[in-house]
Amino acid sequence: MRMVDIISKKRNGEALTKQEIDYVIKGYTSGDIPDYQMSALAMAIYFQDMTTDERVNLTMAMVESGDQIDLSDIDGIKVDKHSTGGVGDTTTLILAPLVAAVGVPVAKMSGRGLGHTGGTIDKLESIEGFKVELDAKQFNELVNQNKIAVVGQSGNLTPADKKLYGLRDVTGTVNSIPLIASSIMSKKIASGADAIVLDVKMGSGAFMTEIEDARELAQAMVKIGNGAGRNTIAVISDMNQPLGFAIGNALEVKEAIDTLNGEGPEDLHELCLTLGSQMVYLAGEAKTLDEARERLENAIDSGAAIEKFKTFIASQGGDPTVVDDPSKLPTAAYTFEVEAKEDGYVSEIIADEIGNAASILGAGRTTKDSVIDLAVGLILRKKVGEKVQKGESLVTIHSNSKTVEEVIQKIYNSYHITKEPVEANPLVYDIIRK
Ligand code: URA
Ligand code: CA
Repeated sequence: MRMVDIISKKRNGEALTKQEIDYVIKGYTSGDIPDYQMSALAMAIYFQDMTTDERVNLTMAMVESGDQIDLSDIDGIKVDKHSTGGVGDTTTLILAPLVAAVGVPVAKMSGRGLGHTGGTIDKLESIEGFKVELDAKQFNELVNQNKIAVVGQSGNLTPADKKLYGLRDVTGTVNSIPLIASSIMSKKIASGADAIVLDVKMGSGAFMTEIEDARELAQAMVKIGNGAGRNTIAVISDMNQPLGFAIGNALEVKEAIDTLNGEGPEDLHELCLTLGSQMVYLAGEAKTLDEARERLENAIDSGAAIEKFKTFIASQGGDPTVVDDPSKLPTAAYTFEVEAKEDGYVSEIIADEIGNAASILGAGRTTKDSVIDLAVGLILRKKVGEKVQKGESLVTIHSNSKTVEEVIQKIYNSYHITKEPVEANPLVYDIIRK
């Protein structure tokens, strides 16, 4: 086989065989196929697309390029959840203990990553003593015992995707549905889940800004998941404003505690129930989605969900008393209110821009080696659709620096205020099944 023939074939719009795709991914991972040939193929895929069979074969070739996590020692159907990205997305911190409380095993491998705030692992580290390094045996035992454990990423998962994603980033080939879908699904499948619930974000703060594109991406991932033998469902949810009120690490832990106590922001609470019922249903812990939802609501009302969060924290070495006394979480030295300059209604909060504001405070990493300030971040006081009066606070800044001019400017840039009343966007646009 020759790479140049494979590139030409795709350029001409033909479908590649499994053997050809395996040859490409093996050769690219080992370094036998150079970046310039892989770039040409990525661009050909960008313009010519891939069939469902090709997408499944590409995904599986990337899964097989590295280690795969074996969760077979854990009892029950393991369901993983993935969000395609957004700002202030606290759902994993809430969903993990919430679905574990109704008996769904949560064996979560989570990343740190580059973003406006840290990943789930960073957020958990704002709890004193919490350890994210567990060996495979400890991890499996904890999940069997408590139905929940979260570990930091280790091992060499999907090296082909890492290399290809880096190449796409500098060759104008990130925004391709077959490439995004296979990239995300390869990581989920290599992480060992039996079933997958995807939260595909749509809006100004997401990859996909139009519903048609979000639906196409969701359908592509659902087909790949099912084609690879993993039951997969996608929820398309709104990212025309951040989810919940908190953007920051310790601030989001506090928000997760509130939500598990039934006192969280309405949108965050509702999205967790929507995603959570899909997880409970796929895990076979409820016969219908309505029953799944009822069980989750009961777990919040009875206190079982927050108890599960305490058990989870204690079992990984953390101090569970933060749940009853969140003032034990890291706290910033200063707070500032960002006041509305005029009367009106909030029509949009550009998630990306406000995320950058949190990042400037130190809530996120700008390079792989930067150190996160777990205490800092933002609390949104007004969300889309709400009426504001001049002088009222839009956002509270939690900062460890006295200089926050740039942060304030970004917050003003992200808040759009109109004279006319605005209706808030729906939270969930669609649910895609096979
Ligand atoms: N996230 C990924 O992991 N891969 C992509 O290609 C896009 C988003
Ligand atoms: Ca949030």
